[in-house]
Amino acid sequence: MIRKITLSAIAALGILSGPAMAAGEAGGHVTDFDFSFEGPFGSYDQMQLQRGLQVYTEICSACHGLQYVPIRTLGDEGGPHLPEDQVRAYAQFWEVYDSELEDFRTATPTDHFPRSSLENAPDLSLMAKARAGFHGPYGLGINQLLKGMGGPEYIASLLISYTGEEKEEAGAVLYENEIFPGGYIAMSQPLYGDDVVYEDGTPATVEQQAQDVAAFLMWTAEPKLNARKEAGFVSVLFLIVLSVLLYLTNKRLWKPIKYKAGTPAE
Ligand code: HEC
Repeated sequence: MIRKITLSAIAALGILSGPAMAAGEAGGHVTDFDFSFEGPFGSYDQMQLQRGLQVYTEICSACHGLQYVPIRTLGDEGGPHLPEDQVRAYAQFWEVYDSELEDFRTATPTDHFPRSSLENAPDLSLMAKARAGFHGPYGLGINQLLKGMGGPEYIASLLISYTGEEKEEAGAVLYENEIFPGGYIAMSQPLYGDDVVYEDGTPATVEQQAQDVAAFLMWTAEPKLNARKEAGFVSVLFLIVLSVLLYLTNKRLWKPIKYKAGTPAE
């Protein structure tokens, strides 16, 4: 019986692994960057998020929107944590469509970031969660268990994996990229190095900018990561204390029955 179940489970996995593996191998090799927010105690690096915001604002926002992200959250603790006046000043950078005015107006912190301005550029709000950098082996997802889902790694790798080749297909120019499934992407290479000037003096290499913007996009996709990990840690601690207390209570409750007068202990 058990043998039968095992065999059918293996068969099912074998079937499942086919397309999953194909998807994993379509792209090139995603680099396993060391992000500060990885692991059970990882948290966002506030300075990195601010640098990523700068890269997004100055480069990516030309095409991509962040329509699910309220501008005010830039001031949240655990995020870029900009001071209130800077959030207000930053909001003025954007124009949003106001359905009441039936016109565009300057954004305020309560507005969301605008939508993508280029029609075929996807919104980036949740992109870090919508993509996986690691797959397999054989569709088992063990790499994801060990390295994480790899959304931000995928984005950072995508940005540094242009080969410089391009081709025209059905009137559209496609750019060769070793990470993008299929090998050709409709997004031209956005980062070449020194595309922005970081205020904190960090050298703006392609890798640095790619990792910063990927970390920022991880934050837009999961803004409460720091709080979630802290809550998780506190709950585990609480459960450990509770287990010890319950164990001691149990001992004490059963003591008079276990060690009844007259019966030898144990
Ligand atoms: C000139 C416009 C333009 C700029 C600038 C641009 N992108 Fe894109 N991006 C696109 C287009 C178009 C696509 C859709 C590509 C496709 O599906 O082939 C895309 C797709 C993407 C994707 C999704 C890839 C996938 O797996 O589907 C990500 C992630 C991305 N861009 C990130 C960025 C980041 C980060 C920046 C800034 C550093 C940036 N883009 C700058 C036009 C742009």
